[in-house]
Amino acid sequence: MKKIFPSYVRVPLIFAIVMVALEYFIDSGDRPAFIQYPMVGLFLVVFLFLLVAIEVVINAVDRVTYHMLTEEQRKQLEEAQSVSFTESKWVQGIIKNLTRSKSIEQEADVMLEHDYDGIKELDNVLPPWWVNLFYATIIFSLIYLVRFHIIGDYNQAQEFDQEVAAAQLEIEKNKAASPKEEITLDKVVALTDEASLAKGKEIFTNACAACHKADGGGIVGPNLTDEFWINGGGIKNIFKIINEGSKNNPSMVAWGKTLESTDIQKVASYVLSLQGTKPAGAKAAEGEKWVEEAAPAESAPAATDSTTVAAK
Ligand code: HEC
Repeated sequence: MKKIFPSYVRVPLIFAIVMVALEYFIDSGDRPAFIQYPMVGLFLVVFLFLLVAIEVVINAVDRVTYHMLTEEQRKQLEEAQSVSFTESKWVQGIIKNLTRSKSIEQEADVMLEHDYDGIKELDNVLPPWWVNLFYATIIFSLIYLVRFHIIGDYNQAQEFDQEVAAAQLEIEKNKAASPKEEITLDKVVALTDEASLAKGKEIFTNACAACHKADGGGIVGPNLTDEFWINGGGIKNIFKIINEGSKNNPSMVAWGKTLESTDIQKVASYVLSLQGTKPAGAKAAEGEKWVEEAAPAESAPAATDSTTVAAK
């Protein structure tokens, strides 16, 4: 075997087989197992190292023994190694068993008596690979016949239904594993953690800065950094105007149609965090001065000091 595949084929081949087997048997979600689980990656590295080390040792031993051989033995060895893969005894044996073909020298044994104007006929046996395949199809068809036409195990329509049901289950499972948070007006609170505000800032820069300016000072849209609000201040009013848009001015559209409610919460929190930043060149105040305690706009009390939202 060793001489059939040279080491530069053997090492990658064995490594690839082990890697594919690991991928197949380890459930690592979307990512490859060796990335998801560093131990698997480490194992592969060590494994590759061992494979290469073994090759190096084998080659070294080969070289040493070669030097110890007599001239005659070296010749024999080289001859044996020059036999190609398909010429090797092992492969020849398999081919012989599968075909049972007669060599040209033996053709006289299977020659038929007939002679059609000089054309003669050989009576070769059917090759075993073909005959066995044929028997296998008969056995398969019998099992199939009994299972699906006599017992009526299941039909294609049932198979389809089963697969749809299984896929549905998978969807439910995924949903349960990562419930999509829905932030509603009465649930919304201002977030103050850095990650949420950073995400809010990112959304603001992409979607809102064109009208409200990157620093919130206002261009087409009003200044968002002062205490004066046209539509009311506080997290709930801000969430509401971003989510539903402005009734007075169509340029401020209902972002609830394009943004996730969780993202609206984040950008609203970011807007709130701009309070009192007094950016240079900000627009003049518009609307009423907002005093937090004075107006719990919605049924639930405004809770601007909470940092997180409980997921339902
Ligand atoms: C096309 C321009 C435009 C874009 C883009 C825009 N806005 Fe506005 N925004 C306005 C205008 C105009 C108003 C004033 C509405 C009114 O008079 O009721 C406004 C009002 C607001 C208000 C209420 C201000 C107040 O004083 O009541 C908030 C909060 C706000 N926008 C946040 C955002 C956020 C967050 C985004 C990005 C997701 C955004 N806006 C994108 C134009 C825009």
